[in-house]
Amino acid sequence: MRLSSWASHIRRTLLLEDPLPNGAEWSGIFADLAPRLTPIACSALAMRMRSNKLLDTAQIPDNGGELRFYQRGDEYSIEVVGISGELMTTAIHGSEDALAELALRRLKQPLTARVLLGGLGMGFTLAAALKHTGPKAEIVVAELVPEVVKWNQGPLGARAGDPMRDPRAVVRVSDVLELIRKEKAGYDAILLDTDNGPEGLTQPANNRLYSHRGLHAAFAALRPHGVLAVWSTHPDAPFTKRLGHGAFQGGRGLRACAC
Ligand SMILES: C[S@@+](CC[C@H](N)C(=O)[O-])C[C@H]1O[C@@H](n2cnc3c(N)ncnc32)[C@H](O)[C@@H]1O
Repeated sequence: MRLSSWASHIRRTLLLEDPLPNGAEWSGIFADLAPRLTPIACSALAMRMRSNKLLDTAQIPDNGGELRFYQRGDEYSIEVVGISGELMTTAIHGSEDALAELALRRLKQPLTARVLLGGLGMGFTLAAALKHTGPKAEIVVAELVPEVVKWNQGPLGARAGDPMRDPRAVVRVSDVLELIRKEKAGYDAILLDTDNGPEGLTQPANNRLYSHRGLHAAFAALRPHGVLAVWSTHPDAPFTKRLGHGAFQGGRGLRACAC
């Protein structure tokens, strides 16, 4: 799960960038704040107070941006440089699991499903998709950034139960839109968790995924009664409207909140 923007703001201003005024100490600030924070914000603050070790960086293809891979204690996080908040943390992943579970539960035959997932992140949605399908299923994962695949082959893999080692998982280093466009009526479900909602965050070009044309392409790539599921931190009225007016018109929408 990604932190809500207010929690990220607290974290950024108090724990990372700004120097502490008048020799104040983090432990004092944490003691003051903790009783007033939600458990999620509290654990985010606690994590930040531990040492924050940069393990690796990766260029995001085509936009010159950068991903940073951090370790704090026994937790890991991935951040997009210049964007407030984390793209992913191993600390909490209930919503990533729910993305697969909720989508696959709506299929008539989930056990034999062919699923397209974009992107890999920390592998939690992939692990959940494997858990909710059967031995004949196939989960194709498109990951834009090659280093993310490498991090999953390294320290991240064990955190999600090494889902990439499952023979049903087929990982491709590719823009998920490329795979969507190549396929006609080939997937039972398409799960998109590439950004923090239906707008380009990892790369601006991801806006294409959530546009009218992107939705038409996703619809064409799905088999009859297929399911498109999009991860988002927030309700997005324009996107919901595009869904309702486009190829998915008449389909049934579901909004789930993993709060
Ligand atoms: C929020 S993380 C996904 C988290 C994942 N659901 C999990 O369970 O860990 C987003 C991932 O999507 C990848 N990504 C972003 N845009 C993409 C695209 N157009 N095609 C494929 N992967 C993309 C990012 O590099 C990142 O690894």
